[in-house]
Amino acid sequence: MLFELTEEQKMIKQAARDFAQNELLPGVIERDDKMIFAKDQIKKMGELGFLGLMVDQKYGGAGMDTVSYVLAMEEISKVDNSCSVCMSVNNSLVCWGLETYGTEEQKQKYLVPLAKGEIIGAFCLSEPEAGSDATSQRTTGQDMGDHYLVNGTKNWITNGGKASVYLVMVQTNPEKGSKGINCLIVEKGQEGFIVGAKENKLGIRSSDTHTLMFQDVKVPKANRIGDDGFGFTFAMKTLAGGRIGIAAQALGIAAGAYELALAYSKERKAFGKLINEHQAISFKLADMATEIEAARLMVYKAAWHKDQHLDYTQSGAMAKLYASSVAMKHTVEAVQIHGGYGFVKEYHVERLMRDAKITQIYEGTSEVQKIVISRGLLK
Ligand code: CAA
Repeated sequence: MLFELTEEQKMIKQAARDFAQNELLPGVIERDDKMIFAKDQIKKMGELGFLGLMVDQKYGGAGMDTVSYVLAMEEISKVDNSCSVCMSVNNSLVCWGLETYGTEEQKQKYLVPLAKGEIIGAFCLSEPEAGSDATSQRTTGQDMGDHYLVNGTKNWITNGGKASVYLVMVQTNPEKGSKGINCLIVEKGQEGFIVGAKENKLGIRSSDTHTLMFQDVKVPKANRIGDDGFGFTFAMKTLAGGRIGIAAQALGIAAGAYELALAYSKERKAFGKLINEHQAISFKLADMATEIEAARLMVYKAAWHKDQHLDYTQSGAMAKLYASSVAMKHTVEAVQIHGGYGFVKEYHVERLMRDAKITQIYEGTSEVQKIVISRGLLK
């Protein structure tokens, strides 16, 4: 059993940390406050290879492993989770889905610019009435011979207004239930494809979340991923890896809040001594460090499972369940350690506390992770 990172993994972790601290930290409060999408920063992330980190170099990616990806996600999520969710969706859902199941033509046309970060992608599964209950897709894709005619609504779509490529789950054969679902590649600007209003959210406020409407959108059959009826399995397999990315985001949020709280505890005095000399604070720091380390081991192990081509559905769901709960619990503690300063924006921990909540909701709520885990146990 090896717990040591490789030189390459250490380098990517440091590069992501430097990028987050130097390029994302300045301006993160204003972007969050005013819901400004980090266009220039995301462009730079693309140029540095962060948006196609795990994609093979022959398709324009950085060709790194999943462990490197979670290390980078962790560092970026310590600072800006609107950027890290964009990175996660592009890498784990859109690029991975296309690279693993797309045709060579789909890869050349869509994966290459996505992996290079020239464009970004979106993954469209959720609907007004199909969140956790993802098999209940109402968006339809009527088979018209050489194309599908898509009608319906998707919501909570990350990168919704900024993406150029959308992987859209549609029901093409309702009698077949989940086996009637297909994943279609839709391009921005197609006739009948409408981007709705941007959501005003509690956290990850500068990420670009929209409702999308499809009104008689013609999608060529060549844009279907996999065989007819593969869409739900595609979504589940893609999300199994996506959950490792969100687990890493949750880990980064918790670790970022802990680093801030630790640093603050070394400066702030109360009752004649540093606050970390009071057990009320030092015990909190001890609990935080211990549980964050446990979450880290789970996240890295799930990533390692993926790299070793072992089953990672279970370990990824466990990592996300645990890391998101640690993120929620310990961002609250980080605010508490900061006292009144924790409640104002300048100290960053209140933003991390707000961001933590979404990690218990998207890419499957904590309850969904428990469904996945318990089914795995009882299989
Ligand atoms: N791999 C392969 N196949 C799978 C699978 C997996 N991990 N999970 C399920 N399937 C298959 C099942 O085997 C089943 O096939 P059979 O009928 O042949 O057995 C079929 O898919 C239907 O599965 P279930 O009967 O298990 O479906 P269910 O209705 O009970 O739901 C669920 C299972 C786990 C709750 C699933 O619906 C789910 O994951 N829901 C949450 C959806 C989700 O994560 N949404 C996130 C949206 S994306 C997002 O958030 C991105 C973002 O913006 C950040």
